[in-house]
Amino acid sequence: MYELKVRASKTYDITIAEDLSFFSERVMPLVKGESVAIITDDKVNALCGGALDDFFAAKRVIKIVIRHGEKSKDAANFMKIINTLAEHGFTREDTVIAFGGGVVGDLAGFAASTYMRGITLIAVPTTLLAAVDSSVGGKTAIDLNAGKNLCGTFYQPSAVYINTGFLKTLPVKEIKNGLGEVIKYAFLSDTVKDTDIRKRDAALIYKCLKIKRDIVEKDERESGCRALLNFGHTVGHAIEKLSGYKLSHGACVVKGMVYAVEISKRIYGLSDGTVAKMYALLNSGKHDLSCAYSAESIAGQISADKKRYGDSVNFVAVKDLGRAEIVKIKISDLKDMMSDYESSFKSV
Ligand SMILES: NC(=O)c1ccc[n+]([C@@H]2O[C@H](COP(=O)([O-])OP(=O)(O)OC[C@H]3O[C@@H](n4cnc5c(N)ncnc54)[C@H](O)[C@@H]3O)[C@@H](O)[C@H]2O)c1
Ligand SMILES: [Zn+2]
Repeated sequence: MYELKVRASKTYDITIAEDLSFFSERVMPLVKGESVAIITDDKVNALCGGALDDFFAAKRVIKIVIRHGEKSKDAANFMKIINTLAEHGFTREDTVIAFGGGVVGDLAGFAASTYMRGITLIAVPTTLLAAVDSSVGGKTAIDLNAGKNLCGTFYQPSAVYINTGFLKTLPVKEIKNGLGEVIKYAFLSDTVKDTDIRKRDAALIYKCLKIKRDIVEKDERESGCRALLNFGHTVGHAIEKLSGYKLSHGACVVKGMVYAVEISKRIYGLSDGTVAKMYALLNSGKHDLSCAYSAESIAGQISADKKRYGDSVNFVAVKDLGRAEIVKIKISDLKDMMSDYESSFKSV
């Protein structure tokens, strides 16, 4: 069992175990009221929906099951959840359990943060992506018609319990989705090695979350260094949008990291040895590193993004593994460097 303490606006513990044997000890003391709402999706419910029931046998439990998938992270489900909590007389003493992947986590977290201005939230992530990323750090959100994650809060959970046993049923696509973020951490800190990535165990999740925890503690509301966690995401998000969200987030982040390495190479003049180490990491999750979109279309998509500052973006570049920094860079310069990379492999 691994544990981590997060000291942000709320102090809380993360437990990473191979089963639920520490759940009573680590989580139950925080579940104070009479009522518990377990929020999950239909797939998780079918696979392991009853796994937490025994722990709450003495409580009044309601289960809210949403349809799986990003489309469920919407205002309608948010309203459904908070109305259900109200109909069942939930008070500020009571608890919401987010039991599922990042979609359930973001939606349940947003509901828990707003219902009565905030009730206890416990995260029990069931995807690799949620385990290494979304369940920790306190970002909650729903999507609006105008775009993803446009409405949300910063609201830390009271505890995060990761049972790697839940991850065993994940399809390869979802493992690869999570590995995209794992590889990102390996660029941000040299504590995660490509040999760790192959193991995909509790120790790996611990190492990743330690990196995220350290960054979140320094900059909970992303006014500075938390943006480092966007490594690979500037181009990755653009590719995700260009694919009409058909490609998974993690798959796009990996492609985005390829561009980030190529752009860093051009900014800093990285040595061949450093670039080779970086490509070893990029290849460690068996992702497809190719990109079907031109530098022109990616740059166009970045220009349309709300995260740009005039004609520039804050881009996360890497000098070496564990040495990432945020550089303000013109989108036109990004485009030129991406075009240069494009022509370099076309000429091979
Ligand atoms: N809050 C944050 O900091 C943060 C960070 C990264 C991503 N996110 C958000 O997370 C979401 C993506 O999360 P995700 O990738 O976990 O997606 P997801 O929640 O949609 O889960 C992916 C799929 O896996 C299924 N699933 C879940 N657990 C399973 C299990 N144990 N076995 C088999 N199948 C299982 C789900 O039903 C779903 O079909 C996005 O909405 C993204 O915006 C949030
Ligand atoms: Zn991401």
